[in-house]
Amino acid sequence: MSEKKPSILVIEDDPGLQKQIKWSLDQYEVLTAATREEAISQLRRQEPAVVLLDLGLPPDPDGATEGLAALEQILSLAPNTKVIVITGNQDRSNAVKAIGMGAFDFFLKPFDADVLAIIVGRAFHVYDLEVDNLRLRSAHSSPLEGLITNDGAMLNICRMIEKVAPSNATVLLLGESGTGKEVLARAVHGLSPRADKRFVAINCAAIPENLLESELFGYEKGAFTGASKTTPGKIEVANQGTLFLDEIGDLPLPLQAKLLRFLQERVIERLGGRTEIPVDVRVVCATHQDLPNMISDGRFREDLYYRLTEITIAIPPLRERHGDAVLLAQAFLERHAKEQNRNLKGFTPEALKALDLHSWPGNVREMENLIKRAVIMSDGPMVNADDLGLKLKTRDEEPLNLRQVRDEAERQAVIRALARTGDNVAQASELLGISRPTLYDLMSKLGLK
Ligand SMILES: Nc1ncnc2c1ncn2[C@@H]1O[C@H](COP(=O)(O)OP(=O)(O)OP(=O)(O)O)[C@@H](O)[C@H]1O
Ligand SMILES: [Mg+2]
Repeated sequence: MSEKKPSILVIEDDPGLQKQIKWSLDQYEVLTAATREEAISQLRRQEPAVVLLDLGLPPDPDGATEGLAALEQILSLAPNTKVIVITGNQDRSNAVKAIGMGAFDFFLKPFDADVLAIIVGRAFHVYDLEVDNLRLRSAHSSPLEGLITNDGAMLNICRMIEKVAPSNATVLLLGESGTGKEVLARAVHGLSPRADKRFVAINCAAIPENLLESELFGYEKGAFTGASKTTPGKIEVANQGTLFLDEIGDLPLPLQAKLLRFLQERVIERLGGRTEIPVDVRVVCATHQDLPNMISDGRFREDLYYRLTEITIAIPPLRERHGDAVLLAQAFLERHAKEQNRNLKGFTPEALKALDLHSWPGNVREMENLIKRAVIMSDGPMVNADDLGLKLKTRDEEPLNLRQVRDEAERQAVIRALARTGDNVAQASELLGISRPTLYDLMSKLGLK
């Protein structure tokens, strides 16, 4: 199948120049117009990516007001169009004015085919990048609230959360720092019948051991010096809702025993209190630690572990989620650019590559912080690799047999190429340097789509 040539609209009233331009741009589908009206009707019909506009359009070849009016109209009808204005040497101020109004670039007469080819080529390139960026943005799938992913393993986790949420089962979330443990814990709560009750989070690693017990279980007035009034603990506060025990691996052994008792009996006693208070909570825990390892070292109770692992969900690190890095980066760029009122259109190809190759030890949290900073640092309109401050380095490869290595490499390359191009098979195959039919074959061999 032959690709349709990209189209460019040339608005030029001088038939000689029009012909010259047309001839020099033969790799494009060249549309022509000699007046503003013609130009606008072509624009509406053909939606060209790039427009070449002579500012000296009649009726006022010197004042350029007709040309500038055409520019304004084009940009209001099709703001993404890249307009290159043509102007005479004596008329530079109008060229500058046109750029100020949003023209992409200008081209000075006399006609020079090489210069024109460069400017036009660049305009198409930028246009394509912007279109890609837009497409990627609209491709966000949002399987759970606040969670962005297109990765198969993550999508399975989302489905699992949807299934598990309505039950009362205790859920243990395992994952490196920044992988989204809290996002998923909140999703468990949000999709449960307890959603309109409280979600109470406590970080066992952030609270000193001597305070953690009273934080969790509460205390009666006079239970210890400084206990000036009776205060319920987090468990009690979460009654009827969800209790999120973050960094459960950091819970000291004596409190592990006490928590286990609560999970078995479902009653608590405040410090210094004598009455048993029944509490109905759904428990979700999270840790980045290796609990079985801690059990064999005697640092975590095995019986508590089995209580907590009714459902265990292991969240993969970002570097193992195919195509998610670019997807998340796009989403965070959009979010933070909006928040900070910055008109940033997307990432340069080098920046996308750097995002894709980085190993993300801090996972999604690292990504978000990085993009936030880049949005502040970038001069725009595209965020480049320098703004991100990422050095291009490749990730470690696991040693496998050669065929496995090859298959996995192919799979990842295909998934990334598709993610980077917003699932555009034509562009992805170009990126991969293979034909489209070959890419389709590869996709079906790898079981994609
Ligand atoms: N898949 C995702 N899509 C969008 N945002 C995400 C995703 N995963 C995480 N985030 C965001 O990244 C940040 C870190 O997520 P979260 O706090 O849930 O991670 P965590 O695993 O609890 O990290 P830590 O171990 O450091 O506490 C949050 O701002 C969260 O909103
Ligand atoms: Mg957390």
